[in-house]
Amino acid sequence: MSDFTTDPAAETPDVGPAFAGPITVYSPDGTSPASRSAVSAQTPTRDEIITNPVIETLLQRRSIRKFKPDPIAEYVIATLETVAQHAASSEYLNDWSAIRITDESLRKRMAQIGNQHYIGEAPLLYVFILDEHRNAAIAAQGGVDVRSAEFTLNTSYRFSQAQNDAVLAMHAMETAANSLGLGCVYLGSLLNDPRAIIDALQLPEYTYPVLGLAIGKPDQAPTLKPRMARSMQFFENSYPADTDSILEPLPHFDAVVHQYYDLRHTERPVDAFSTQTTVKATDQSNLAKPVGPAAGGQGFTLDR
Ligand SMILES: Cc1cc2nc3c(=O)[nH]c(=O)nc-3n(C[C@H](O)[C@H](O)[C@H](O)COP(=O)(O)O)c2cc1C
Repeated sequence: MSDFTTDPAAETPDVGPAFAGPITVYSPDGTSPASRSAVSAQTPTRDEIITNPVIETLLQRRSIRKFKPDPIAEYVIATLETVAQHAASSEYLNDWSAIRITDESLRKRMAQIGNQHYIGEAPLLYVFILDEHRNAAIAAQGGVDVRSAEFTLNTSYRFSQAQNDAVLAMHAMETAANSLGLGCVYLGSLLNDPRAIIDALQLPEYTYPVLGLAIGKPDQAPTLKPRMARSMQFFENSYPADTDSILEPLPHFDAVVHQYYDLRHTERPVDAFSTQTTVKATDQSNLAKPVGPAAGGQGFTLDR
């Protein structure tokens, strides 16, 4: 087991014994973790990264959109659900729930709403929802009038925090699934029509769909999608005033992204990141998916 704390030359702070070993040190000299080369087990510099099995699972994650039909064992499902429950939760309100879709016609309906065939093909399919319904019922039992202005579980703040909680739980589930050799894809496409999801899943007041998660044994092996330079996303103490400096590594990232082939469109490399972003900046379909009205219909007051 490597022990960085005993090496005075190491610039890396103590990673702590609970997560310390076994550790490999990589020089991130490639564009993807797969092309990193192990250089040392002892003296990571500030630009090298270390890995252990947990970190490797996270670094190897990628979206999977083609699944083998093999069913997922119930004990695996129990494991994934339990892991999700262990994610952090704002104010310990546990304000999310997940609906596992096992009914075939409902699965087809989800694929139709999301307009993605693989939604209907995943052996395991969840829709995660932000959920203040349960908490409202508990509060009502405790004497709170949830119809009064005093009730605040339906505010924009709680909506946002409950959404965070649901996403954290999903990410824990995804990571656990990946660590077991399963593949996943998040399904924001279900929010093409939140009201349709609300109807199909009979979502009650103070709930709102967050994302779908499709899980199954991978039947494809997409290459890892490149990530931008760390300096473009991690800043120190304040947001840099100089936007040009943030964008400095962009031409290189554009070139790297343009070499990537998405398995959804194998015949052509994906557009450069700049091109993708510029196109999406005027994507009019974003206007067709306002959160406010559908959330209002669920009892949330996003203006307070
Ligand atoms: C909030 C969110 C919503 C997403 N929705 C979809 C979706 O509806 N369909 C899909 O195929 N992928 C979806 N994805 C996957 C992204 O397209 C994917 O994560 C991204 O292109 C990066 O690729 P990677 O996951 O392989 O690294 C979603 C991801 C996130 C985080």
